[in-house]
Amino acid sequence: MATQKLQKAFDYLKTELKFEPQTALILGSGWDSILNFSFTKKQSIPYRDIPGWPVSDVPGHQGKLIRCAFKNQSLIVLSGRSHYYEGFSPGEIVFPIRILKSLGVRQLIITNAAGGINPDFKAGDIMLITDHLNFIPREIPDPKRINSYYDPGLMNIARQAASQADVKLREGVYLATTGPSFETPAEIRMMRWIGADAVGMSTVPEVLTAGQLGLKVLGLSCIANQATGLTPKPLRHEEVLTNVNASKKTLGLLIRTIIECLS
Ligand code: HPA
Repeated sequence: MATQKLQKAFDYLKTELKFEPQTALILGSGWDSILNFSFTKKQSIPYRDIPGWPVSDVPGHQGKLIRCAFKNQSLIVLSGRSHYYEGFSPGEIVFPIRILKSLGVRQLIITNAAGGINPDFKAGDIMLITDHLNFIPREIPDPKRINSYYDPGLMNIARQAASQADVKLREGVYLATTGPSFETPAEIRMMRWIGADAVGMSTVPEVLTAGQLGLKVLGLSCIANQATGLTPKPLRHEEVLTNVNASKKTLGLLIRTIIECLS
């Protein structure tokens, strides 16, 4: 990714945002439903106003960078992300992560909607991502040889927050696939066999870059549906959004408790 392009976005946001964020939260499909009742919105910048920022038009993604406050914490919320299946390059997908790093962010909470592969998982469950399997082409060969991207300290904070808020937290391996099609039942059988608990079309590109840049990462999936083949019904993106939306109270509560525990 051209340094000049990054510099322009950084300069724009540095002037617009009047604080130095330490924590950022990326909201995946349907998760934006937690915004209205979880935080006080201080400032909202449409992605299209930020030079070079990739703008997705997938339903369920607002396409805004929002400065939020909660108790004594200020954070940046990215409501919406770009996906490989929309035609964005691996470099474009991780552009926001590079900008967050340059703005001073140190810890990143990254969320998504996923299909549950683990037969114990039900729609509405929340899964702490403990590891991943990646099937999405990546940006550049990683200079740092990292093999564990999810911060153990942040994982413990999420577990502690879940127990404090009385939210059941599942744990498992997230498999990132290019999409845009949902999987075939045979693919799901293979994914289960190789160790995946949930499948989705995002997150890992951003996690890899965040790790390379030294950010601490916490990953959470909302299990929006049982994966193809585990249920007779055909899957639709609208169903994913409806199911994530139905869990918004629990998702919001967990995120707020995690943010509180971070301070
Ligand atoms: N597969 C892939 N991505 C998804 C799914 C799924 O079943 N549900 C939500 N995102």
